[in-house]
Amino acid sequence: MKKFKLFTTILVAAFVFILSACGTSKTSGGEESKDKTLRVVTDAAYAPFEYQDKGEVVGFDIDFINAVAKQAGYKVKVEHVGWDPLFVEIKGKTADIGISSITINDKRKQTYDFSVPYFLSTNKIMIPKDSPIKSAEDLKDKVVAVQNGTTGQEAVEKLLGAENKNLKKFKDNNLAIMELKGGGADAVVADNTVIEEYVKNNPKENFVIIEDEAAFDKEFYGLLFPKGSKLKADFDKAIKEVMENGEYAKIYKKWFKVDPDLTEVKT
Ligand code: ARG
Repeated sequence: MKKFKLFTTILVAAFVFILSACGTSKTSGGEESKDKTLRVVTDAAYAPFEYQDKGEVVGFDIDFINAVAKQAGYKVKVEHVGWDPLFVEIKGKTADIGISSITINDKRKQTYDFSVPYFLSTNKIMIPKDSPIKSAEDLKDKVVAVQNGTTGQEAVEKLLGAENKNLKKFKDNNLAIMELKGGGADAVVADNTVIEEYVKNNPKENFVIIEDEAAFDKEFYGLLFPKGSKLKADFDKAIKEVMENGEYAKIYKKWFKVDPDLTEVKT
């Protein structure tokens, strides 16, 4: 009889232990855990959004993701992995969030989830001051440098044709700009803010920017998540909150020196 009592006590104790273990694993194991530091990946060669300064990854996007994560109650660590690898990591779920001036589009939505939009952008053309190029149409018989796998590449492919040898594709946008500087290309097509900042900060290089609204669509940046990520809901909410509580405007002003027009990104 005594033996039986001991046996049931052990059984009950084991049962209680298993039950409590089940309860805690829900809050400490999943990607939704707020104790775990989320891995955020970027391509830090796209100033002023993400770039490296004395070995540190900085930029508008970095301040933005830090503010949003804090608002949502998550810890994050941003790592520079490069443009193509960042998509591989999010798809393979070795990273939790991608932030890299990533345009929300239907093609990417088939494989990834996006947050609500947080920045309005469009592709523009950067050329030397004395260039004869006046519009996107004029790029047709010119050598154009773009970052591989971007909406800029896609837009230029529409103009020149995908197999065109005059389209030079680079791993990052700084390399595309270097090609233009070295005379190996006639133009760079990239996100307006990035090339506008470049022209402003490098007046001696004598580049100018041209806009062509008919050729280049309006685009919106979003955070990139693995498909089905449970983080999306929390981060969407936090993005809206930092836009409402003035935090977004503070970061925007730090990087762009002017107040944001929040109606641009409200959906
Ligand atoms: N917005 C463009 C796109 O999504 C270019 C982004 C490039 N970002 C970067 N960090 N290099 O295709």
